[in-house]
Amino acid sequence: MRHPRFPQRPRPVGGRVVPGMTHAPGGKPAPSGDGRGAGHGADGSLVVFGGTSDIGLAVAAELLAAAPRPVVLVCRPGAPRVPAARRAMLEAGATRVRIVDLDVAELGAHEAAVAEALAGPVDRVVLAFGVLGDQERAWQDAGAAVTVFTVNATAAVSIGVLVAQRLRGQARATGRRGRIIAISSVAAERVRRPNFVYGASKAGMDGFFTGLREALRPDGIGVLVVRPGFVRSAMTAGRSMPLAVDPRRVGRAVAEADERGRELVRVPAVFGPVMTVFRLMPQALARRMPW
Ligand SMILES: NC(=O)c1ccc[n+]([C@@H]2O[C@H](COP(=O)([O-])OP(=O)(O)OC[C@H]3O[C@@H](n4cnc5c(N)ncnc54)[C@H](OP(=O)(O)O)[C@@H]3O)[C@@H](O)[C@H]2O)c1
Repeated sequence: MRHPRFPQRPRPVGGRVVPGMTHAPGGKPAPSGDGRGAGHGADGSLVVFGGTSDIGLAVAAELLAAAPRPVVLVCRPGAPRVPAARRAMLEAGATRVRIVDLDVAELGAHEAAVAEALAGPVDRVVLAFGVLGDQERAWQDAGAAVTVFTVNATAAVSIGVLVAQRLRGQARATGRRGRIIAISSVAAERVRRPNFVYGASKAGMDGFFTGLREALRPDGIGVLVVRPGFVRSAMTAGRSMPLAVDPRRVGRAVAEADERGRELVRVPAVFGPVMTVFRLMPQALARRMPW
């Protein structure tokens, strides 16, 4: 039985999904920097850091619907959601699931965990870990602020660097070009008073992955930055916001953006024009907004 949260999308028929494919259809190498090419072979792994994340799993399920493949879930050791995450991936079409332990706040453990998670051919790496934290405590308690930044910004950057180097090595050795999918937030685009510690930490990681996208372009490795608005997930349980969406909506939008080789996606898409206006809004007006 398929996991109810992750029903399968119809698979492409006669499309670009060819097992072991390292080039775009027609025998031509995929255009440099679009992150395609080997990414659409079905044999390379899909690795999810934050392997229990509702959004991360929804993204993975949609990517699996397009191309079943092995999945690696990088999870906090002993996290209660791990067994359900493993089941969800098998039900969504993973050909096998491997669990790698990592508490991302332990920065010294990153190198070994990334090496373990990315052993073997890799096509997609999703970075979906993050914490919201108590926002009013976070700006008044240095320890709480540092925790938010360590997970959302420092760990994301450290793992981003290690993953990028591993994908570059793979591209140069085998021609297989993977893609990084970094779950940022619209909160990164303009930091707001109600969640400014979280927003500032996401702004840091968002800026890093936006720059990494340019740095990796010559190697043909893509970086897709995902900026969801409010998503009903474990992180936001008990809260509500305008324009809220379910994780599956994010998963579908990411899979579509991935298929098209896009580099930035906001979910829902209306956040494109909304953020254009909000970014330009004078602070005196922005602080009166009802969210
Ligand atoms: N929900 C939203 O409204 C929203 C909007 C925009 C962006 N985002 C971003 O989307 C991403 C996923 O969030 P979500 O909504 O899917 O919430 P979620 O289900 O709570 O996922 C958060 C993930 O981060 C992991 N994590 C937290 N601290 C960790 C640590 N120290 N070591 C290892 N893993 C750790 C959690 O693992 P455990 O199971 O061990 O806790 C979980 O896998 C986050 O980056 C978040 O900032 C969320």
